[in-house]
Amino acid sequence: MKITSLIKFSIFGISSIVFKRKKPILGTIILTDKCNLTCKHCSVNNLTAIIYPYEQIKSEMRLLYKRGIRILFFCGGETFMWNDGSKNIRDLVIEAKSMGFLIVNVVTNGTFKIDLPEADLILLSLDGDKEKHNIIRGDTYDIIINNINTATSGNICLYMAINQININTIESVCNVAKNMKNIRAVSFNFHTPYPGTAELSLTASEKERCCKVIEKMIKRGYPIFNLKSAFPYLINNTFPTPCHQCVVMENGKLSICGRCIDIPGLCKKCGYFFVAEYSLIFRGNLRVIFEMFKTYLRYI
Ligand SMILES: C[S@@+](CC[C@H](N)C(=O)[O-])C[C@H]1O[C@@H](n2cnc3c(N)ncnc32)[C@H](O)[C@@H]1O
Ligand code: SF4
Ligand code: SF4
Repeated sequence: MKITSLIKFSIFGISSIVFKRKKPILGTIILTDKCNLTCKHCSVNNLTAIIYPYEQIKSEMRLLYKRGIRILFFCGGETFMWNDGSKNIRDLVIEAKSMGFLIVNVVTNGTFKIDLPEADLILLSLDGDKEKHNIIRGDTYDIIINNINTATSGNICLYMAINQININTIESVCNVAKNMKNIRAVSFNFHTPYPGTAELSLTASEKERCCKVIEKMIKRGYPIFNLKSAFPYLINNTFPTPCHQCVVMENGKLSICGRCIDIPGLCKKCGYFFVAEYSLIFRGNLRVIFEMFKTYLRYI
C-alpha cells in the first residue's frame, strides 16, 4: 500500500472515531450473480444470472467514489464471468484505478485463467484440502491450483469460508498459501448461516478451536491476512453489526454492510472477519487498529 493511501485512511479513521461518523470507506459492487459453480454453502448464485452492463457498473463506481468509498471490491456470482462486448473484469479494475480508488480487489472462485496484475488483491476462494474443497465446490481443486500457478501476477490471497465440512483443513490451506508462488496470504471467514445453510454453521467452541489453529499458524510465520485481536469478538459474535463503514451495491440497490442486511437475525450470526475487523476499528478498538496497520502494510 502506498504511504499516501495509508495517511488518507488514517485521517478518515481518526475522524470517524472522534466524531462517531458512519461514513463508508469500503464498497463492494456485485457484477452479476451468474456463476459456473453451485457451492454447498452459497445462497447468492444464479438467482437471476443477469450480467450487469458496463455503463451501469461504471456509474455505480462513480456513485461510490462520490460518497467517499476508496476501497473497492468486485464480487459476484463469478466475477471472471463478467463481460460486456470486449470488456472484461480487467477493464473494470483498470477503470476503477483510474477513477481514483486507492485499493481495488476482486473476489473469484479461481476456475478461470488469471491475468489481473492491476488488482491490489485477488481474493481466490479455496475451501480446504482437495477432498473437502471438492465436496463444497465440485471437482475444481486441481483446476484452481493450476490457474494459481499460471497466474500472471503474485497478488493472490486465498479466501476460505470455514464450515462443518472443512473445519479440520485450515492448516492445509495455510500450507498452500505459504508454499505456492503467486500467493501472498490467506484470509478466513466463518460460515454465515443464510437460510437453508444453517447445518454448516460452527458453534462458539468450534470457532474458538479454529481461531487457536489460525493463531498457531500466525505464530509460525504463515502469511495470514486476519487480525487476531478480533477473534474473541468473532467467536462469540459480540462485534457491533452492521458495519456502517462498508456498503454493497447490487443492480442499483445500495445496502449498508452486506447484501444480507435484510435477512432477519443474520447479523447476530455473522461470520465475516472483515465486518468484525472494520466495525471494531471504527469504534476505536486500539488493539485491532494497531494490528491492522502491521497486517495491511505487510500484505497490500
Ligand atoms: C459469494 S462468493 C463470490 C465470488 C466467487 N464466486 C467466489 O466464490 O469466490 C464470495 C465469497 O463468499 C463466500 N461465501 C459464500 N457463502 C458464504 C457463507 N454462507 N458464509 C461465508 N462465506 C460465504 C465464498 O466462499 C466466497 O469466498
Ligand atoms: S463460486 Fe462463489 S458465487 Fe459461485 S456458488 Fe461458489 S461461492 Fe457462490
Ligand atoms: S453484519 Fe449482517 S449485513 Fe453485515 S455481512 Fe454480516 S450478516 Fe451481512
